[in-house]
Amino acid sequence: MTAKKPLPSDLESIETASRDEISALQLQRLQWSVRHTYDNVAAFKAKCDAKGVHPDDLKTLADLSKFPFTTKLDLRDNYPFGLFAVPRTQVVRVHASSGTTGKPIVVGYTRQDIETWAQLMARSMRAAGARAGDICQIAYGYGLFTGGLGAHYGAEKLGCMVVPISGGQTEKQVQLIQDFKPDILMATPSYTLVIAEEFEKLGIPPEEISLKIGMFGAEPWGEGMRAEIEKKLGLDAIDIYGLTEVMGPGVACECIESKDGPVIWEDHFYPEIIHPETGEVLPDGESGELVFTSLTKQAMPVIRYRTRDLTRLLPATSRSFRRIDRITGRSDDMLIVRGVNVFPTQIEEQILRDPRLSGNYQIVLSREAHLDQVEVRCELQREISFQLSDSEIVAVGKELQHHIKTNIGISTRITVLKFDSIPRTLAGKARRLIDERPVQL
Ligand code: DLL
Repeated sequence: MTAKKPLPSDLESIETASRDEISALQLQRLQWSVRHTYDNVAAFKAKCDAKGVHPDDLKTLADLSKFPFTTKLDLRDNYPFGLFAVPRTQVVRVHASSGTTGKPIVVGYTRQDIETWAQLMARSMRAAGARAGDICQIAYGYGLFTGGLGAHYGAEKLGCMVVPISGGQTEKQVQLIQDFKPDILMATPSYTLVIAEEFEKLGIPPEEISLKIGMFGAEPWGEGMRAEIEKKLGLDAIDIYGLTEVMGPGVACECIESKDGPVIWEDHFYPEIIHPETGEVLPDGESGELVFTSLTKQAMPVIRYRTRDLTRLLPATSRSFRRIDRITGRSDDMLIVRGVNVFPTQIEEQILRDPRLSGNYQIVLSREAHLDQVEVRCELQREISFQLSDSEIVAVGKELQHHIKTNIGISTRITVLKFDSIPRTLAGKARRLIDERPVQL
C-alpha cells in the first residue's frame, strides 16, 4: 500500500474549518434550500402547509426537525419531473434508480449541480489519496446509474486520466490494468473481488499490480472485505458512499489517513439520524436511519430525505466534518444485488404478469465466487400444473427470467415448481426472502 495522504495545502478551507464556521454556513444554505424547494416544488409546499410549517420558521439548524420528510414514495408519486425546482429547460442531465415497483425514480441536475457533483467527487478522490495526473479506471456502470458518470466527472475534474471501461468484461478490465497501469480503481467491492480473482488465476501477484487506491461503494461491505481486497490487490481500499436521490457517489468518502468511515461533505448535505419508526431525531452516536437535506442542489433539492440506511454519526477526525459508520442494514426491504438496487415487490410484479403463475414465490439470495446469486422460486397455478409439459414449464421460467432481466436489470435463476410447493404461512407475513449470503464483517 503506497498511496499518500493529501497535504494540508491540498484541502479546501471548509474541510478544516471550525464547527461554528460549518454550522453558520449550513444554516445559511439550509435556509436557502428550504425556501427554494418551498417556492418551486408544489408537492413540498403542500406537505409543509399541511404540517403548518413555513421556511420562515427555520431559524436554527435544530428547527429543521419541524419540517416534513421526503421519501422514495414522493419521488414515485411525482414521476418523472414533478420534484424539479427549476424549469425543465435548465436541467442538463437525469439519472434514475429503482422504485419499489414499475417505474424507476428520476433525479435531475442543472449545469451547476453537475459542477458541484464533480467537485465533491474530486474532493472524495483527494481524500482517498488520488492526485492530478493519476490514471483512474472506472468500473462502475455508466448510464442511468450514477456510479460511472459521477465518478467520471470527478476524476476528470481532479485532473486524472480516465479509463471509462464501465462494469463487466473482467478479462478486459485485467488486461487494461496491466497495459495502462492505472493508480486508481473504482468499482463495487464485490466486483473488485472478481477482478482480484482473475489476477490470481493468471498468477499475477499483488506487487505486480499497478493499483494503489480503490474507491468502493454502492453496496454494503465491511472490514473483512477491506482486508481481503487490500491483500489481493495490494492497494488502499476506501469506502465511498452516496445515493441517487441525494446526488450519487461522493455524498461522503473516507480519508486515506484514517480509514475510519466516510466523511460527510457537510457543507453540501445536512445529516440527521432518526428513529426509523417514530421519526424522532436522535443524538450523534446513536444508531438509526440516515436522513439528508441537500444544501446547494438546484434542480432537485431534497429536504429530509429518508435514505433508509441504518448507521450512526461519528465525530470528526481527519476533516472537520462528521463521519458515518458502516451501513448496517436498511429500514425497508431493498436488496442490493451486485450493486443493483432491487425491491422484492419489483420481482413480484414480474411474476404476477404471468397468469400461469400463482402469486406464491420465494427469493433466495446466495453468494458464489464473491458475487450475489438470485434464485426466484415460483409455482404454477393449480389447474396449469397438470396441463404443461416439462419443456413448457422450462419456457415459463425462461420468460420470467427475461422479464426480470429487462425490467429490473438483474440475472436470476428461476425455478418453476408445481402448485403448492412453496410453504404457505398460516399467520403473519409470508417468508418471501431467504438470504443465505454470509454476513459482511
Ligand atoms: O449506489 C451511488 C454510488 C455509486 C455510491 C458508486 C458509491 C459508489 P444508488 O444506486 O441510488 O446510488 O444506491 C444507493 O446504495 O442508499 C446504500 O443503501 C447503498 N450504498 C451506497 N454506497 C454504500 C456504501 C449509489 N459505501 C444505496 N456502503 C444507498 C454501504 C452503500 N452501502
